[in-house]
Amino acid sequence: MAIDLPTANTNLRLDGLVPDVEAAMFEPIIEEIDELKHNRNAIVLAHNYMTPDIFHGVADLRGDSLELARLAASTSADVIVLAGVHFMAETAKIANPNKTVLIPHTQAGCSLAESITGADVRLLKERYPGVPVVTYVNTSAEVKAESDICCTSSNAVAIVESLDANRVIFLPDQYLGRWVATQTDVDVILWHGSCEVHERFTASELRDYRNLYPEIQIIAHPECPPEVLDEADFVGSTSGMINWVREESPAQVVMVTECSMSDNVAVESPDTEFLRPCNLCPHMKRITLEGIRDSLLYMRHEVNVDSSIALRAQRAVERMLAVT
Ligand code: 13P
Ligand code: SF4
Repeated sequence: MAIDLPTANTNLRLDGLVPDVEAAMFEPIIEEIDELKHNRNAIVLAHNYMTPDIFHGVADLRGDSLELARLAASTSADVIVLAGVHFMAETAKIANPNKTVLIPHTQAGCSLAESITGADVRLLKERYPGVPVVTYVNTSAEVKAESDICCTSSNAVAIVESLDANRVIFLPDQYLGRWVATQTDVDVILWHGSCEVHERFTASELRDYRNLYPEIQIIAHPECPPEVLDEADFVGSTSGMINWVREESPAQVVMVTECSMSDNVAVESPDTEFLRPCNLCPHMKRITLEGIRDSLLYMRHEVNVDSSIALRAQRAVERMLAVT
């Protein structure tokens, strides 16, 4: 039986960015999203890990966690659809409480955010009285509310140093915390959280890449374990890694992070060969074009922050935004 496949149309927004057949299937949904965005005065903020159909097809603004927080804080749109995970949507709501913030899937979580509660932070503060608490944005609003200041992977070192303290409690990513400790003289008290995606990379697989491709550049996210970061030529946030590829134009690169990012960057770097150990974030991958369309159609799933913690969480986020 013959199956009618959508015909490729050269005017597609995704032309050349995804296979023609996929582009033709995505285009009607992209048009629906465009109309809904217009009618609702909405924008789509997309994290760098979104798939190309979202990243290139419907995102109005893109970035790493810090950039998304800043963009959310400054938008004049009434509605923000956060194409990313829950902590990013919650941070957008904290940064701009008067906006309606939607997340297309309720299960788009994060293993780091799951690793710690507000009660854990209160116990740590009892154990280390007076030591400032620096909290990665990959956490719940409740945890942020117990913290002195937030940070992201792109500003963690600057945030720790901005406190003028000899010691900080750094939560919850043990690997990001260890990496920060290598970049500063400040003592770092760690928690045991980790990213389920980045902790799967190994130093030996990266050494294998180097043996096979002696010219390769290895660039890694600081959520990776220390022995993996020791193999890297550059360590940075997702946007830091993207900018590094833009500036350095390496002949061959391996981006040691969630693998959708290489798909997004590869389209603008035709002279660079991307080698791709593929670790996907299951939470990020719950966000789809259909989910974004439905979030705008039904105005679901709205993200709100409990009023008993919103102000304290906002203080920690705004303090971060004021530093970098
Ligand atoms: P970035 O802030 O570097 O985009 O990192 C967010 C994240 O969740 C990486 O896994
Ligand atoms: Fe969380 Fe890791 Fe997924 Fe980033 S990649 S959202 S840190 S689980």
